[in-house]
Amino acid sequence: MPKNLKNEILLVGKGLKDKISYAKNVKSLEDIRISALGKKGEITNYLKQLKSFDHEQRIQLGSVLNEIKNNLLNSLEEKKRIIINEELEKKLLDEKIDITLQESPNNQGTLHPLSKTIDDISAIFADMGFEIAVGPDIETDYYNFTALNIPEDHPARQEHDTFYLQPDHDGFRKVLRTHTSPVQIRTLEKINIEKLDELRVIVPGRTYRSDHDATHSPMFHQCEGLVIGKKIKMSHLKGALIEFCRVFFGSENLPVRFRPSFFPFTEPSAEVDIGCKKLQDGSLSIGGGEDWLEILGSGMVHPKVLSGVGIDPDLYQGFAFGMGLERLTMLKYGIPDLRPFYDSDLRWLKHYGFLGIEETSLHSGLNGVNS
Ligand code: PHE
Repeated sequence: MPKNLKNEILLVGKGLKDKISYAKNVKSLEDIRISALGKKGEITNYLKQLKSFDHEQRIQLGSVLNEIKNNLLNSLEEKKRIIINEELEKKLLDEKIDITLQESPNNQGTLHPLSKTIDDISAIFADMGFEIAVGPDIETDYYNFTALNIPEDHPARQEHDTFYLQPDHDGFRKVLRTHTSPVQIRTLEKINIEKLDELRVIVPGRTYRSDHDATHSPMFHQCEGLVIGKKIKMSHLKGALIEFCRVFFGSENLPVRFRPSFFPFTEPSAEVDIGCKKLQDGSLSIGGGEDWLEILGSGMVHPKVLSGVGIDPDLYQGFAFGMGLERLTMLKYGIPDLRPFYDSDLRWLKHYGFLGIEETSLHSGLNGVNS
């Protein structure tokens, strides 16, 4: 066999093998196969030339060409498998869902200042043996006014700026409760005071009045308090409320003042003020000082209210109080405007809100107890 020819063939084989190893996809592999082993392929051409050699040379050259041909076919097969595998892997990788992606930290919520206030108030009164009671936001005229000794022609009804609903089929118009006091009546109707040594409840909840400015919102929150027992006196009212104010504002010697007032459902009635100081910049400092700030209404439950729910006022007495929760929250945390309370603005919440729910959280009580 001409030596040169054999070398030439081996070189061509090597060149084709290199091309196979550099191939990037199945299509170029197929091109290489055709260029080598197709009808007009390089190796095919050599095979076609075999017949011009003598027998001996034909056998030698034929075996070299066949070896190269088989070798190339194996390489093509092997490379094809590798390319298909790589393509599959790339496809899988592209389609993979990255479940390690971090949640946006902006979405983390904080406890709304009002919720914090409700939790704090609930915890303070729980320590004094109070339970949480609830009642409906939509009230009848009877519970919101009449049963609380506010008859139809009473001027207090006008002061409440009541939202009235469309008349029911029986012609009566329900109201959005203007205070949490109707829950006093609902609770007293439900319990049997003779079996109960003493009733102590607070009622945190939503209330409504047609009023809107920097310190008033048509929907706001109050917390009612009610204690009924055989020996309840004005001194209990004072003791409980002084204790509450001092713990809530975190000021042990906070001055607390009881100022005569009027509510149809309490007699005597008192408004409760706490001592404060007006600072140069116009803000308030809770605690000692020249000024007083009104924070809640209170009084001894009116005998008419008790007898109205079948409790003998000669045997039982009690005290009640009611406070605006937005107002308390604004005072405690120095929040100047009420309106952003309901804007759901995360920047405001980040500024005034509280991270994490504390272990004392009794807020859930709003949804269940005594309903
Ligand atoms: N309900 C009264 C108000 O909304 C507050 C209050 C409650 C006063 C209980 C006395 C007793 O202003």
